Amino acid sequence: MEKIKLTIDGLEIEAEAGTSVLDAALANDIYIPHLCHHPDLKPVGACRLCGVDVNGRMEMSCLLPVREGLDVKTNSPEVGATRQVAIELLLADHPQGCLSCGASLQCELLHIADHIGVDGERIERLRRPSEPLPIDNSNPFFSFDPNKCVLCGICVRTCEDIVGLGVLDFVNRGSRTVIGTFGNEPFIDSICESCGECVVRCPVGSLAPKRWQRPSHEVQSTCVYCGVGCGIYLGVKGDQVVSVRADRERPSNQGSLCVKGRYGYNFINHKDRLTTPLIKKEGQFVEATWDEALDLVAEKFADYKGSEFAALASAKCTNEDNYLIQKFTRAVMQTNTVDHCARL
Ligand code: FES
Repeated sequence: MEKIKLTIDGLEIEAEAGTSVLDAALANDIYIPHLCHHPDLKPVGACRLCGVDVNGRMEMSCLLPVREGLDVKTNSPEVGATRQVAIELLLADHPQGCLSCGASLQCELLHIADHIGVDGERIERLRRPSEPLPIDNSNPFFSFDPNKCVLCGICVRTCEDIVGLGVLDFVNRGSRTVIGTFGNEPFIDSICESCGECVVRCPVGSLAPKRWQRPSHEVQSTCVYCGVGCGIYLGVKGDQVVSVRADRERPSNQGSLCVKGRYGYNFINHKDRLTTPLIKKEGQFVEATWDEALDLVAEKFADYKGSEFAALASAKCTNEDNYLIQKFTRAVMQTNTVDHCARL
């Protein structure tokens, strides 16, 4: 890929041709505030926060491709003044009490406000009186609070361009504009499949999961719901799984998950779930160690050959596990009687 040399705030950097100035800056640890940009989506230049100065002209850095010799200033007085107005207007249209919002630690709007520095009194003067809009709690996995929405359109583009459903769009015009489903119906009555792709990309607390706790650490794993093998990170707190996050590096899902993979992790902590092997002794199942259970299975396998043996695999295993069980059944147990519960 062709490399382009440009200068940002006096620092000469290199970027691949076709990269935006915003992405080139972020890749070189130069922060430019941005709210409507997401690396998975085409830029639209909606929030007007990522403006930069190029030879005295204001350009939106998310829409500006790198060019040889480009000289970009991210903090000229003109850029600063434009950004100040943009963030103040957004905050003036945003509910007060951000600190009680579940997303406050990850809210991009608060992060940008902190970075730019805002005058709280001026924002209160800019605030126009308005009635709060109803919160849509109809979806079992996430809620939608239109009052916290900044109209960045990331959810709309995610649903259209990544998920391919197009559930969401801008509804109404002017200052009454909101994000909504077709006919502005509750999520539960729309064609939404609850995959949560819009929720994980929402830069504020407008689309928020109903059940989420900050994990103390994460464990890399593979989703057990089907054979696609989506990469996940299970968030763990104490001895409980409290969150699931998609693995962006796993080729099979590249950061996406379906509703089951993202939200269907309750069973892991369910009290009825077997977590130790059981061996039947004198008609009763008793708990055993894995070594005891595997030794018993290996010992019993020696008694069966050919058609006496059958294997039933599970769709909750990875493709690799299922490949191994059919190989073991055919090559070791010498039978083709192997089946799979993929007809779930
Ligand atoms: Fe460029 Fe919003 S990030 S305009």
